[in-house]
Amino acid sequence: ERIRIEGYNQELIHHRNILFPGFTNDLLKIKTMKLRPDDTFIIGYPKSGTTWTEEIVWLVENNLDYDKSLKTSHFERVLFLDKEPIIKIDQLPAPRVLKSHLPLEYLPDDIAKFCKVIYIMRNPKDVLVSYFSFVKWLKDLEFSGTLEDIVEHFSKNKILYGDWCDHVNKYFSNPDVLFICYEDLLEKQMETVKKIVEFLGKKKTDEEIEKLIEFTSFHKMKTNKSFGMIPKDWNEFIDKFDFKLFFRKGQIGNWVSHFTEKMSDFVDEIVKQKINPKIKVRYLP
Ligand code: A3P
Repeated sequence: ERIRIEGYNQELIHHRNILFPGFTNDLLKIKTMKLRPDDTFIIGYPKSGTTWTEEIVWLVENNLDYDKSLKTSHFERVLFLDKEPIIKIDQLPAPRVLKSHLPLEYLPDDIAKFCKVIYIMRNPKDVLVSYFSFVKWLKDLEFSGTLEDIVEHFSKNKILYGDWCDHVNKYFSNPDVLFICYEDLLEKQMETVKKIVEFLGKKKTDEEIEKLIEFTSFHKMKTNKSFGMIPKDWNEFIDKFDFKLFFRKGQIGNWVSHFTEKMSDFVDEIVKQKINPKIKVRYLP
């Protein structure tokens, strides 16, 4: 069902009480897509550091080919499952590195048993600030509300891709998923990237990992032109796309400059009630 939500200039898809962007045409076909054992999925709630993780994973999967990373559009190297026609996904050469924001229940059953699934979680206050900045400049959304509206949407299941706590809880509870945090990727880089490399079944030396961390650092990615190479069929979606805006702050705790105490308490209360208590969410550096 397509619906209008106040503040957004485009119809969104509403399915089982979850909102999806208008472009998720093949949403229900994904559940039965053909998986391959050498597929890797990188998943995160929007604005959790998905793109960053994708770049790290793509490089590990592709022999640390830095030259190709700089020269080939990131969006062609890592296909966005939610947006691409499933026919195109089916035809990709192996090994596929795919990105998605979908809740676990929209992906094929046992996906994480059959292929590799990496999930990245970020604290929801930084997610909301990043999301707010993103939906404001994205052409097909052009959200006209305030950050306070977004924080309210957080409690009403009105953020794209559904309830944050549900999203995180489901991936966390799946023992076959590699679950990492944005905060760790930023502060415990060596340890976290090593976990990724090991999970992918690859071997890299400490020197190689150090170089990889440097190459995928916020400032390096911001100047990597492959993020500015937008596939032609995305034009209607992001013709104002300035990839420098996408790489906004890349920090832990930027929410402190945008949240009031009331907004912060509000999010704390929801998270306290709903999140799996085994999940440690870190809000500050
Ligand atoms: P900010 O808006 O807080 O800067 P996603 O890829 O899931 O949409 O997440 C986007 C967020 O990840 C943005 O957060 C973006 O700046 C941040 N990000 C992207 N690359 C990064 C990197 N190399 N290091 C740290 N943060 C990064």
